Amino acid sequence: MLMLRRHLRFLALVAAAGLAPTASAQEQAHVGRYEQTDIEFGARLYNMHCVVCHGENGDLLPEINLRNTQFPNSPSDRALGENIRNGLPGTAMVATAYSDAEITALVAYVRNIGSVDPDSIAVGDAVRGQAIFAGKGECSTCHRVYGQGPRAAPDLSNIGALRTAAQLERSLLGAPGGTIPINRPVRAVTADGTVINGRRLNQDTFTVQLVDENERLISLEKARLREFTLLETTDMPSYAETLTDEERADVLAYLLSLKGM
Ligand code: HEC
Ligand code: HEC
Repeated sequence: MLMLRRHLRFLALVAAAGLAPTASAQEQAHVGRYEQTDIEFGARLYNMHCVVCHGENGDLLPEINLRNTQFPNSPSDRALGENIRNGLPGTAMVATAYSDAEITALVAYVRNIGSVDPDSIAVGDAVRGQAIFAGKGECSTCHRVYGQGPRAAPDLSNIGALRTAAQLERSLLGAPGGTIPINRPVRAVTADGTVINGRRLNQDTFTVQLVDENERLISLEKARLREFTLLETTDMPSYAETLTDEERADVLAYLLSLKGM
């Protein structure tokens, strides 16, 4: 069995009546910076999708050298991402259905095209990663993928489209900030004193939906709760030591390949 490293950071006590919004600055903390894992994932995508026209070094087209980092139609990263996704009208570059995570990675790579270490291994082999997911990593004892596995932890079937490579790597390292706020473990006490421990799936103004410890889906009316606590603990083990760098890279490649059915 894996040793679970519990990260107990702090308890956020939230009164039942006034549930504070929990979407935090975490998700925005990295805007404007390029993370190495995204750059490396972007390099891989570039070699699959862009290299035919722009060349290995980004300088194959006479009209535009990607190493210049100044692009006439892309003053910002947002514009650059939109141009990569939508293509450039009137040129050979056509629209392609990239996920947000892929756009983040492609932008990060294009902005750093000259400076990537070719020996870096942040993103490995998805097929090997799948084997580790089911085997050594024991991920499938908690996570569900494509209808297989328990509901104790977030369903990862679409995780490659939802999270960037860098966010996924942080999850594997058990880093603070790896936890997506909506998935936090919660403790609720109903008006009659029943204690429910579970994981939050969703919430709106009046209700909150959980999966409890017995994997039941429950919807609770917030106004009728005596207590509702978001826990800052996580049951997600850190794989910083239990997997090697290569193995984590393979698992990351597998996670990035999960983009829904
Ligand atoms: C079919 C060929 C083709 C493919 C594939 C292609 N491009 Fe382009 N790209 C072009 C052409 C042509 C231009 C426009 C050159 C010009 O300015 O006339 C261009 C322009 C660009 C620009 C400049 C945008 C600007 O603001 O002017 C960027 C950045 C870029 N491509 C990145 C990419 C990336 C990243 C990919 C892969 C996801 C990609 N391209 C795939 C042909 C291609
Ligand atoms: C003991 C149960 C458990 C195991 C084993 C486990 N996880 Fe998790 N994982 C969780 C829980 C619970 C969460 C929810 C978030 C949290 O609590 O941090 C989570 C969160 C995640 C997330 C973030 C999901 C999101 O929405 O961003 C990813 C990615 C992930 N796990 C991947 C893995 C991988 C890959 C493995 C195996 C190498 C693994 N997990 C093993 C319990 C587990």
